[in-house]
Amino acid sequence: MSAVPSPARARLDRATADLDPPLAVLDLDALDANADDLVRRAGGLPVRVASKSVRCRAALRRVLARPGFAGVLAYALAEALWLATGPDPVSEDVVVGYPTADRAALRRLVADGTAAARVTLVVDSTDQLDLVDSVAPPSRRPPVRVCLDVDASLRAGPVHVGVRRSPVHTPAEAAALARAVTGRPGFVLAGVLAYEAQVAGVPDDPPGRRARGLAVRGLQAVSVRELAGRRAAVVAAVTAVARPGFVNGGGTGSLERTAADAAVTEVAAGSGLFGPTLFDGYRAFTPRPAALFALPVTRLPGPGLATVAGGGWIASGPPGAERLPRPVLPAGLRLLGTEAAGEVQTPLRGRGTAGLRVGDRVWFRHAKAGELCEHVDVLHPLAGDVRGEPLPTYRGEGRAFG
Ligand SMILES: Cc1ncc(COP(=O)(O)O)c(C=O)c1O
Repeated sequence: MSAVPSPARARLDRATADLDPPLAVLDLDALDANADDLVRRAGGLPVRVASKSVRCRAALRRVLARPGFAGVLAYALAEALWLATGPDPVSEDVVVGYPTADRAALRRLVADGTAAARVTLVVDSTDQLDLVDSVAPPSRRPPVRVCLDVDASLRAGPVHVGVRRSPVHTPAEAAALARAVTGRPGFVLAGVLAYEAQVAGVPDDPPGRRARGLAVRGLQAVSVRELAGRRAAVVAAVTAVARPGFVNGGGTGSLERTAADAAVTEVAAGSGLFGPTLFDGYRAFTPRPAALFALPVTRLPGPGLATVAGGGWIASGPPGAERLPRPVLPAGLRLLGTEAAGEVQTPLRGRGTAGLRVGDRVWFRHAKAGELCEHVDVLHPLAGDVRGEPLPTYRGEGRAFG
């Protein structure tokens, strides 16, 4: 193999030598260390696992078996039903973190009393309640558990800092929706969710971008202060209508700050488990890269160049260089500005190409966590140098939830 020696690379290459890339590994030691760190940062609040950032049932089970984790924040109702039911459910407490319009899945939810007791839907409007009723009127179904999704962005006049989620922003709006839920038959107000993406998902120390880091920190400080007051007021207003069973907030990037908000009873996190590149630039924590993928070198187009098969495993979100996969082993490789990560092949350049031959492999990190699993059927678990039985991804189990 290459002339560039590296114990990390040698370990990965050795452990997977009999496999043909493309392949992905899950470093269980790194995963466990990352899981411990999330629990530490949550400061005693239970961590609900954001399944979109994992997309592998075995990995979800492993994390949920650890103290400090409780429940799943799923991203689709069909997924939630799959995780929450059957002979060996991943969890009996699954909140679907995004509203659903999947009528077939709603039909299945209301046809199964166990599923209805284990799965909670988020709503931010009576429209979503109407959709449930259109599938099955309250008289012909068990009560459906709902969680109010409250906008946790920072608003100042026309300025909106954060993601576009719920239209429900003020305590009065939250109380009105709580009354709408409790005032109609067939629904149970189970919880409140207020996810501050502008704090949890925006790096406050992006590598090589000092000025941006300073600006982000300033905005995040303002947002955290504003939200601490508003989230408490929202919860008080909702509680005056009906006591919510849980108040969920945060994500990997905000755990300690979200957990410091007395109104919050649990936090959510997922990305910090796999430690993708978009989570490198935070001051409060540094996850270990637990998920990596390997692509094979298939040709050498010229001096200082090596081409791997595939490579366009690009992360969702606003397009930009930070969404591209990053070649990490051997060290000293970079994508070409003219081609970036290609559809079926990806040329690389840099000193890391020295010694690379056809058939060698290059190890990459994905920019995001769970999306990696949409490209492979299994994750190969590594404990130290030992490779375990492959862990099927959602895709490997024939499941795609969008
Ligand atoms: C509702 C909600 N909570 C929490 C998270 C945080 O997930 P992660 O820790 O993977 O960033 C997300 C991510 O988008 C989310 O949508």
